[in-house]
Amino acid sequence: MSNKKELSIGLVGYGFMGRTHSNAFLQAPRFFNLPYRPVLKAVCARNADRVKSFAENWGYQSVETDWRELVARNDIDLIDIASPNNTHAEIAVAAARAGKMVLCEKPLGRTAKEAGTMVDAVESAHVPNMVWYNYRRVPAVVLLKKLLDEDRFGRIFHYRSQFLQDWTISQDLPQGGEGLWRLDSNVAGSGVTGDLLAHNIDMALWLNGPITEVSAMTETFIKERKHNLTGQIEPITIDDASAFLCRFANGSMALFEATRYARGHKALFTLEINGERASASWDLHDLHRLEFFDHRDEGQLRGWKSIHITDSEHPYMKNWWVPGLQIGYEHTFIHQVADFVSALGENRAAAPTFRDGLATEYVTDAVLKSAKTKSWEKIPVA
Ligand SMILES: NC(=O)c1ccc[n+]([C@@H]2O[C@H](COP(=O)([O-])OP(=O)(O)OC[C@H]3O[C@@H](n4cnc5c(N)ncnc54)[C@H](O)[C@@H]3O)[C@@H](O)[C@H]2O)c1
Repeated sequence: MSNKKELSIGLVGYGFMGRTHSNAFLQAPRFFNLPYRPVLKAVCARNADRVKSFAENWGYQSVETDWRELVARNDIDLIDIASPNNTHAEIAVAAARAGKMVLCEKPLGRTAKEAGTMVDAVESAHVPNMVWYNYRRVPAVVLLKKLLDEDRFGRIFHYRSQFLQDWTISQDLPQGGEGLWRLDSNVAGSGVTGDLLAHNIDMALWLNGPITEVSAMTETFIKERKHNLTGQIEPITIDDASAFLCRFANGSMALFEATRYARGHKALFTLEINGERASASWDLHDLHRLEFFDHRDEGQLRGWKSIHITDSEHPYMKNWWVPGLQIGYEHTFIHQVADFVSALGENRAAAPTFRDGLATEYVTDAVLKSAKTKSWEKIPVA
């Protein structure tokens, strides 16, 4: 048992993200030298039996069935929000007011307005905060960021990014409740714009700077579905697919697309960036590779390199296995915990902060608005 100072975690939600976060809190101090040791103090969800068995499986010391009780506890340092989007703002604001650090899943709020209240709460309480845009911590993407910061690309002309899935094509799929709250706009806020494109946008803002204006289209292919909570056929008001053009402040132009109707694609998050001297591309299905083209290479050998990101010189990789052995999805969350706890030890913020999360919400709001107005929409500065 380490004698490092403890960081007591209170997790809300034991679903998909509850598992990735719990794993990350456990693994981060085993692979990274951190100034604090995360302690799984309590997990909260509404079903007492299920939350208890989750706590036993992951080693949480206690359970709560009301997040308000969790936030009120004085043995918790950090509230980690891994519950559906409609719960984020209320929990985050209460946690900040109680002086807790707050980590929150993406999207930060259902709208930029909601996210703005969360930014105000954490900033006025001066509590450390971070949004789980975990794909920023894929080593190949971090290497791309480093190459961009080293100005290897020159002037950037193009950015394009997609997030393609196929899990809602069946008309028989209901909406609402466990696992399917993403189809209910009251809970989710929006469809693929807030759920999927938010990831593409967060990464793009980080890699390529601010977006200034967008022009979008969205579609809802299946207009009504049975609601699991009411048993009634109800309208679907989320966007099933969303595509937009945009301009970045650096003068580059971009194309973004997300859908849950691209048959055969499960979680195909892609990005490509084209500059004056170099281009790069990456995708989530092959997340340990960065494709890189450098026009300054000798002419007869010039071509796309497929860099296998497993060497100790690559971001985060010296903390893992040996060169040639790759890591995967869950490691992005472990890296995010490691970066947050390291930053905490040095009294600095870990990105993406809630304010960074708000910048993404300004873009997603503008995308949804542009799809309605059929006109270009300007993006405010977060
Ligand atoms: N970073 C990512 O890549 C990523 C991936 C998936 C989901 N997410 C985000 O994570 C969040 C959760 O998504 P998920 O896929 O884990 O959902 P999920 O449906 O698998 O789990 C949600 C959990 O929240 C609990 N919950 C719901 N309402 C609650 C309440 N009022 N109080 C306490 N617990 C409550 C549920 O019981 C469940 O345990 C969402 O905001 C989602 O957008 C992010």
